[in-house]
Amino acid sequence: MAVPLSSPLWPQYCVRWGLRLLFQVCACSNPACRVLLRDLSFSFLIEAFLIPAPYYGAITQHVYLYGNVRLVCVYLDSEVTGLETRPFQLTVEKLEMALKGANSEGVKVKGLILINPQNPLGDVYSPGELQEYLKFAKRQKKGVPGKNKFGNPGLDRGPSGFLIHCHPTLGDAFDLPAKLSPPHDLPSRHELHVMVDEVYMLSVFEESVGYHSVLSLERLPDPQRTHMMWATSKDFGMSGLRFGTLYTENQDVATAVSSLCRYHGLSGLVQYQMAQLLRDRDWINQVYLPENHARLKAAHTYVSEELRALGIPFVSRGAGFFIWVDLRKYLPAATFEEEMLLWRRFLDNKVLLSFGQAFECKEPGWFRLVFSDKTHRLRLGMQRVRRVLEGKSQVAEDAPSC
Ligand SMILES: Cc1ncc(COP(=O)(O)O)c(C=O)c1O
Repeated sequence: MAVPLSSPLWPQYCVRWGLRLLFQVCACSNPACRVLLRDLSFSFLIEAFLIPAPYYGAITQHVYLYGNVRLVCVYLDSEVTGLETRPFQLTVEKLEMALKGANSEGVKVKGLILINPQNPLGDVYSPGELQEYLKFAKRQKKGVPGKNKFGNPGLDRGPSGFLIHCHPTLGDAFDLPAKLSPPHDLPSRHELHVMVDEVYMLSVFEESVGYHSVLSLERLPDPQRTHMMWATSKDFGMSGLRFGTLYTENQDVATAVSSLCRYHGLSGLVQYQMAQLLRDRDWINQVYLPENHARLKAAHTYVSEELRALGIPFVSRGAGFFIWVDLRKYLPAATFEEEMLLWRRFLDNKVLLSFGQAFECKEPGWFRLVFSDKTHRLRLGMQRVRRVLEGKSQVAEDAPSC
């Protein structure tokens, strides 16, 4: 499989980094906004990113620790509502609803995080879906841009005496907090940064899935607010090296991330090794990726057949290292307490699964099962899963692991 970046990439837009920084920077990438907020001491402003849930839960800390940014979940559920729909499908309607809800609570949403391929769903967005989400992020909503609710450009006072943001050009730079300006007075355009986490982009092992990076799209609706990141952690199994990349055409974001790289830099040795590795396109495309995909596919086939034999429904589309497993029928009651008890039973029987609540899944009973392992360990793991679900304790009966 070819490395799925078909459009030319310009080296000046690439930033090497310790992977988690982008989330922290986009929240405050507009210097004018930062200065305004600081000068006016708007410390009560809550800024947030939208994120479809379930999602890789560690992002909550990634955005909060440096950026003080919260996440607003766009909750997805397992219900299939039509022929063309799939479980946990992200739609623009759901994005709109979550954004509206956040705005009405005075939360200023500044970005959207997309994980593609998705963790924990193993889902992959089509180019059409990606375009829809990007257009949503840029969208100019109803209302006249650059005018306040009285239809005038300029800085006005509303009936409450609060300053209402309305200048046509300042509008891009200054986002007044909801506390000063009621939610319905907020600027009518979304203009969200979109951060696409493609850390599993080369781990799409099902060829029919047809993965497309956001950078391979014909046209980006808002190139200045579209940022893509990738790392060797998953696709090359090198999490320990802490090597990641950001591709952005936004100079402010690139500069901000670069300055934080001072604390997350890579040694010259690592940079040299990475350059050697990534330069060898022939080996990557002809040797490494085919072998990696074949192994992932074999492991996935084994685990999914075992799950089918157990009558356990699951979601998986052939990307990533995990299967999103529906164990709701094994919960005596549909609560997160019961989900935790089941997780505990797995753990007591030497199986470590991740429970849905850790991914902000709103339906108790979903678990993430990682399958990217050797066959003999998968076999042992699935035996243990089976025994737990059949209500038998089994540790003593297990063959020794090797
Ligand atoms: C979607 C996603 N993004 C980022 C990361 C973090 O990767 P790293 O180990 O490079 O920090 C993970 C790790 O599981 C992940 O699943």
